[in-house]
Amino acid sequence: MGRALAGALLAAGREVTVWNRTPGKADDLVARGAREAAALEDAIGASDLTVACLLNDASVRETLAPVLPKLAGSTLVNLTSGSVRQARELAERAEEHGVRFLAGGIMAVPPSVGTPGAFILYSGARDLFDRVAPALEPLARPHYVGEDPGFAALYDMAALSGMYGIAAGADHAVALVHAEGGDVETFRREVLGPWMEQMLPLQVAGADVSGTVPAEYNPGMQATGLENMLSASREAGVATEQEGHLRAQLWLMRRAADTATG
Ligand SMILES: NC(=O)c1ccc[n+]([C@@H]2O[C@H](COP(=O)([O-])OP(=O)(O)OC[C@H]3O[C@@H](n4cnc5c(N)ncnc54)[C@H](OP(=O)(O)O)[C@@H]3O)[C@@H](O)[C@H]2O)c1
Repeated sequence: MGRALAGALLAAGREVTVWNRTPGKADDLVARGAREAAALEDAIGASDLTVACLLNDASVRETLAPVLPKLAGSTLVNLTSGSVRQARELAERAEEHGVRFLAGGIMAVPPSVGTPGAFILYSGARDLFDRVAPALEPLARPHYVGEDPGFAALYDMAALSGMYGIAAGADHAVALVHAEGGDVETFRREVLGPWMEQMLPLQVAGADVSGTVPAEYNPGMQATGLENMLSASREAGVATEQEGHLRAQLWLMRRAADTATG
């Protein structure tokens, strides 16, 4: 991801200095005009805007601890995935060292960085975001989600939860078709794709904070349907571990049906 981010900045004609724990992974970026810093301290001093994108919060903590004081007066943008608490804690440590800080959540995969449709969530001080957004624009459309530094991580994780729910459903669907001798490619193209496209906006709009199900959705009927799907999955021999999304919905529908019938 770091390579994709740096590449997008280079493509926009920006001056870029890169650093990676294992040296020599940036040859393609160097060939495109980036400067590879031999030491992290050199990269930190190269600009008043530093973008971090490492594996996880632990690697960011470990890497930044010795250089955080040197970032004083400059801006640090952390695009590493992590939790709400981790983002808030890093923001506090940055503030203690006089570092202006934005937390980010990348809503893109490396090939889509810098392309239309990709966006990055940012949280932290609004005036700082307004100031640095033009510099960050080449990465992906900057989207501000609030002063609380934890909010970029919050929305990132919640959006990923939605995505993995879809992935679980799609994987289970093709496993079922495959197990019963169906043609997976035809199913994918002619059935699953069009069906998902039709339903996705309804599912997003209908996702309910309280976990309740409106009566017009007929939760009793849906619970029966979900039980059928679980039986079909069992008959086909699909691994029960792949049924988690069906069980989650069955739990909700049964609860809603029980509430409706008193
Ligand atoms: N890839 C995606 O599709 C995607 C999408 C959205 C968000 N993200 C987020 O972007 C971040 C980076 O993902 P990635 O795809 O680039 O992962 P990756 O390919 O596994 O790269 C991890 C990077 O972190 C560095 N690193 C790991 N441990 C380190 C440590 N202890 N100290 C210093 N550097 C360390 C690695 O350096 P070495 O080369 O030295 O190992 C490498 O540069 C993650 O937080 C991920 O969740 C990724």
